[in-house]
Amino acid sequence: MVSVQNRQSAYSNATFNWRQRFSTVARRTLPPEINWLMAQALEDPDIISLAAGFVDQESLPHEEFAGLLREVMEQAQNGRAALQYGTTQGDLEFRIKLIDRLRREQVISSNSEIDASHCLVGSGSQQILYLAAEALLDEEDIVLLEAPTYFVVLGVFKSRGAQTIGIDTDEHGLIPERLEECLEQLKREKRLSRVKMLYLMSYATNPLGVTLPQERRRQILSILQRYRDGGFPILLVEDAAYRRLVIDGECPHPIKRFDDSNQQILYTESFSKSLSPGLRLGFGVGPKELIDKMIDIKGNHDFGSSNMAQQIIKTVMQSGLFDQHLKTLQSIYRRKRDIALNVLEKYFPPEAKWLRPSGGFYTWVVLPEAVDTSAKGHFFQTALQEKVLYVPGDLCYSSDRPESKRSSAMRLSYGMIGEQALQEGYKRLARAMEKEISTLTA
Ligand SMILES: Cc1ncc(COP(=O)(O)O)c(C=O)c1O
Repeated sequence: MVSVQNRQSAYSNATFNWRQRFSTVARRTLPPEINWLMAQALEDPDIISLAAGFVDQESLPHEEFAGLLREVMEQAQNGRAALQYGTTQGDLEFRIKLIDRLRREQVISSNSEIDASHCLVGSGSQQILYLAAEALLDEEDIVLLEAPTYFVVLGVFKSRGAQTIGIDTDEHGLIPERLEECLEQLKREKRLSRVKMLYLMSYATNPLGVTLPQERRRQILSILQRYRDGGFPILLVEDAAYRRLVIDGECPHPIKRFDDSNQQILYTESFSKSLSPGLRLGFGVGPKELIDKMIDIKGNHDFGSSNMAQQIIKTVMQSGLFDQHLKTLQSIYRRKRDIALNVLEKYFPPEAKWLRPSGGFYTWVVLPEAVDTSAKGHFFQTALQEKVLYVPGDLCYSSDRPESKRSSAMRLSYGMIGEQALQEGYKRLARAMEKEISTLTA
């Protein structure tokens, strides 16, 4: 006879099949591939990672922050407010200041009645994207996005059970005519009502590094307007994470600027790239009903983003440090971009093609079609032997695209690493490419 004690230990030692217990959303949520890439770099300190989308390490303003933190804490009222719970939507004064700033910068139209109630502070713009997905997407709903796109967001949409459709891009970003063709096709298939959003990066996109020209912005908005008038409202989620890091030419107005009714666009920005990702702060501005629903959902997530981080950013903005820091960042990334382009020009084989980044810190390099850049491919191993890592292009494509199965492109980041490592990393990759191309032609 099995004693009660033995039976209990038999239960507690059994390996539980957690997979069977997971929710549908949990089962659809997979670790981002980038985790694996990061782990590779951490395992071998000699590897130069051109994979991580981290910001320039040396530019992080820790000394200024020490002073700012003291400033916030020395004043009892501000200090206590920073250490207390805040509201789920975000500190009111902070949101008022943000909206004032966005109006001055002409991000939002002077005709629109947007105010602080249309703004939600999130734990990074990543959370704003997640909340929008949770608020809007049911299984089988459709999200349109650029091909290639910001690969982390693909996981967010997938976790909601949504279908993603990648729209062609060129060296200027999303091609409006292709968007229209896709919508027409969906109309013929009677699937238009399932299209809930177009997710679009409008500045120095990740991974292409290109900034959508003004003309295309208007075209895209007018296409969506037409479908809206025809009874098919599609929310444009405008991700402007890299707006403040645009370094080439005139920085065009965001598409949000032309959304007078504030009904068509959810605009998101991040303080990660422009200040510090450690603060984990971003925000969204959009239609009141949508923002209110996202606040309800965020309440379930976390009651609100770090109040401390909001107080600090408020002080950073007031002190003028933010604008000063942006200028520093722009000159750092311009210099790094130019070094990257120079090394590409000098060392990469003529078969390689790349885009000139208009800002941000990514270069998109395309190799001859015969080279498979995926993590399972031969070239990735060759690069690892040369001790350099990149983001394989296939990861940046939605699963409906053939490039998601096989791509000859890669994303190279020059965000975090120093100038010397940047040059060395690119040179190692050039060596890997030469090896690969010579084996292909042998
Ligand atoms: C295009 C884009 N959007 C959003 C994010 C999310 O950034 P965060 O959550 O740090 O604001 C990133 C991060 O790399 C990004 O590249």
